[in-house]
Amino acid sequence: MCGIVGYIGSKEAQGVLLGGLRRLEYRGYDSSGIVTLGDRSTLLRAKGKVAELEAKVTENKTIDGVGIGHTRWATHGVPSEENAHPHKSGDIYLVHNGIIENYKELKKELKDHEFVSQTDTEVLAALINSLYDNETSLESAVTQALQLVDGTYGIAVLSTREPEKIVVARSGSPLIIGVGKDETVIASDASALIGHTENAIYLNDGEIAVCRAGSVDLTDLSSQPLSAKVEKIEADMSAIQKQGYDHFLLKEIMEQPTTLQSTLNGRVDPKENRAMLGGLNMTQAELRQIEHVVIIGCGTAYYAGMLASYYLEQLVDGLTVDVEIASELRYRSFHLPKNSVALIVSQSGETADTLACLREIKRRGVKTLGVINAVGSTIAREVDGGVYVHAGPEISVASTKAFTSQVAAMTVFGVQLAQAKGAGVQELNQYINELADLPDEIEKVLAAHRDEIKEVAAKYTKYDHALFLGRDTLYPAALEGALKLKEISYIQAEGYAGGELKHGPLALIDDRFFEVMLLQDNWLFDKGVSNLAEVNARGGHVVVITNSTKQIDAETIVRVDTKLDALVPVVLNVIQQLFAYYVAVARGNDVDQPRNLAKSVTVE
Ligand code: G6P
Repeated sequence: MCGIVGYIGSKEAQGVLLGGLRRLEYRGYDSSGIVTLGDRSTLLRAKGKVAELEAKVTENKTIDGVGIGHTRWATHGVPSEENAHPHKSGDIYLVHNGIIENYKELKKELKDHEFVSQTDTEVLAALINSLYDNETSLESAVTQALQLVDGTYGIAVLSTREPEKIVVARSGSPLIIGVGKDETVIASDASALIGHTENAIYLNDGEIAVCRAGSVDLTDLSSQPLSAKVEKIEADMSAIQKQGYDHFLLKEIMEQPTTLQSTLNGRVDPKENRAMLGGLNMTQAELRQIEHVVIIGCGTAYYAGMLASYYLEQLVDGLTVDVEIASELRYRSFHLPKNSVALIVSQSGETADTLACLREIKRRGVKTLGVINAVGSTIAREVDGGVYVHAGPEISVASTKAFTSQVAAMTVFGVQLAQAKGAGVQELNQYINELADLPDEIEKVLAAHRDEIKEVAAKYTKYDHALFLGRDTLYPAALEGALKLKEISYIQAEGYAGGELKHGPLALIDDRFFEVMLLQDNWLFDKGVSNLAEVNARGGHVVVITNSTKQIDAETIVRVDTKLDALVPVVLNVIQQLFAYYVAVARGNDVDQPRNLAKSVTVE
């Protein structure tokens, strides 16, 4: 979603800002803009891609050393140049992530400002300007304005009267300040800071910072000084480059053996028959007490949680597990039984609905554990304990490697819980070995099937609708397979539990549809084959993805050779990822930045 960059130092700000905005493109956006200050201010904005903005910059080059920039994902007002940030009011310019909820009421009071956009952000700009008289510093005007605001924000503000500073603030929307030698770089996402500095201050909610070239002063909303904690940014340049692949998505699918290994390193030890996550901040006695687990996430993180819930149930005797969509749970009058823990699953660690659930659950005194990829993200900082999955930056909007790592990390948690509750060595042995073998198995499958899946995908690009079917652990995998296909190919795709076929979706089967059926060679194989027969009998166009070598009747069969059993859905899902990728490429889509979608959904 929206992205913020800012720069103050001796380099040409326009170049630094454009570079930063390009790094933030992956988050999803529909317009962008920058303003720099010199002898005069240069405000440039464009609808569409950053390349459009770049063309304007080429025609309006400056050598200014201070500026702010933004990529906007439309919420209030259509994507257009007028609605793009920065917004101007009097001497100030503002970029903003988040939503000002009381903007209509505030707007009524701001009679002196002639509004030119439909955005809530312009209202905040006008509000700050209305409080910014000759006696007031920029930070003081910003502080006073923020006290009147309801909603979420990460903001960066510039003033032509005080060009030696950028004032930034956050409440519910991330902001990171990179502190270099004689320069300060601001971004809403660490990826825009990589290459500038390794030292960063992660702003907390309710904090305001005055950034000058190479120095930062932090206060709270009552202007009380705070001391800033400087942390190291972990990611390196190579992690945010395509490294020879056509798309980030393909790179991220192919690197799963390595990223998954990073998830498992030091956590799974088949020789000792142990699996353990280090950061739970829970004693063995506390773990033993857990009777209920609630897993919360959105999108792919939710499906990862759903798959993991089957494993937790299998691993831990008597444990009850619920999996919840964060945007639903946060508004329900839900009840958590005694001795619950919550697993908060999020790649970005910034998803607004997931964060809202975390805060509500913490407020109730229930222990929260994060399963997070983005280091230093808001959710990671607010949970009581948990794990980083260490999958590295995920740039493509559609999530792939994070899913695999999230499932693996939650399965390790299941084994750890079972161990604490006294499960026998033999019972856990299978899971521990399968987790340890998973990276190699995925590597084998990717190498063996990449070309085949490209050919299979070519046969199914012409369809407009798809059904994904699976039973048991293959049901969440089918849901994730359908999500991946719809996100990037724009084919309408739905996932269903195989047993539900007769309760509705069978009515859909015709020549406009194809079906992806996940089949595992286990006790449910024959049930799946019956479902397959029902679809075939109605002229279905079925792609079976299976680990079975048995006779199967289907239009297309992808047979995967793996020694795994419990974790077969994770392996078959990798095939689905390749399938979605190649279908989307064949349809000519922007696979890394699908239309209308954002990588990190920081507003409701
Ligand atoms: C967006 C992304 C998805 C992601 C979901 C949850 O919809 O496009 O890829 O699964 O948000 O994001 P999170 O960062 O919380 O895992």
